[in-house]
Amino acid sequence: MQVFQDIGDIRTARWSDPLVSWGLGPTMGFLHDGHLSLVGRAKDENDCVGVSIFVNPAQFNNPDDLTAYPTNMARDLELLEANGVDLVWTPSALQVYPPSFQTYVDVEQITLPLEGGSRAGHFRGVSTVVSKLFNVFEPQRAYFGQKDAQQALTVQRMVEDLNFNLDVVVCQTIREPDGLALSSRNARLTPASREQSIVLYRALQLARQAWFNGEHSAKALRTLMTDEVGKSPLAQLEYASVANCSTLEEMDHVDGAALFSIAALFEGVRLIDNVRIQ
Ligand code: PAF
Repeated sequence: MQVFQDIGDIRTARWSDPLVSWGLGPTMGFLHDGHLSLVGRAKDENDCVGVSIFVNPAQFNNPDDLTAYPTNMARDLELLEANGVDLVWTPSALQVYPPSFQTYVDVEQITLPLEGGSRAGHFRGVSTVVSKLFNVFEPQRAYFGQKDAQQALTVQRMVEDLNFNLDVVVCQTIREPDGLALSSRNARLTPASREQSIVLYRALQLARQAWFNGEHSAKALRTLMTDEVGKSPLAQLEYASVANCSTLEEMDHVDGAALFSIAALFEGVRLIDNVRIQ
C-alpha cells in the first residue's frame, strides 16, 4: 500500500498503469466497518482501490464539531493495508485549500432540505472536496454510504451535472447488532446516549412497518417517528422526514419510492439515519 500527502505523488501512482481500473473510497478517517464495506465493494469491482483520509474543514459549519472530530491515522492505515487498499491520500488542509483557493462547487435544490437546513454550507464543502478527490484520483467508480443519503444524491447530481467521467456507487448502511448505523461520531456518545441512540433506527423501522401495514399519510408517518424519538430523554430531534427518494421534497402521500430520514442530537453528538421505501 502506498501512502502519499502530495497530489503529484498520488497522480503518478494512480497512472503508473493506465490500463487498470480504480475505485475510490473518500473518507474523513476514524474508519469503521462501514468504510471497510466500501473498500470491499470497490475491490470487487475494480483492479485497484484508492482511499482518501481528510477531515474536510469546508463541510463543518460548527467549528466545535470539527475540533471534536475523532482521528486515528495510524490505526486507519493499518486497517486499509489489512483490507488490501493500494493507494491512500492523506493531504493536509493547506494542500487541499491553499491560501489562494477560491473555487467552490454548489449543488442547488437537493442540498437545501434535511441536512442542508441545519448545516449551512455543509454540502458546498462536500461537493467541493469530492470534486477535488475525483480530479486527483480520476477513478472509474467512487463509493459512498447510503447512511449519508443526501450526500450520495448530491454527489450523483454533481457527477451528472458536471459530466465527471465515473460511476457513483451507493453502498448499504452497515449497523451495529442493535441497529445503530455505524458512524465515526458514535465514538463520542456517552454510554447513556449510546443506549438511547438506537431510538433512531427503531423510529424508522416503526414508520416502515406502519407503511407496510397501509399507513401512506406522510404526516402520520412523521408523527410516528417524532413520538418514538420523543420517548428517549437524551434525544433532541432535528427532523423526521418522509421525502421523495430522488428530489428530497417532503411528500403528502407515500405512493412512490420514499426516503424516511431522521437527525437528532444526543448530548451534543449529532446522528443521522434513514431507510428507503420502494
Ligand atoms: O462522508 C464523508 O466522510 C465525507 O463527507 C466525504 C465524502 C469524505 C467528503 O469529505
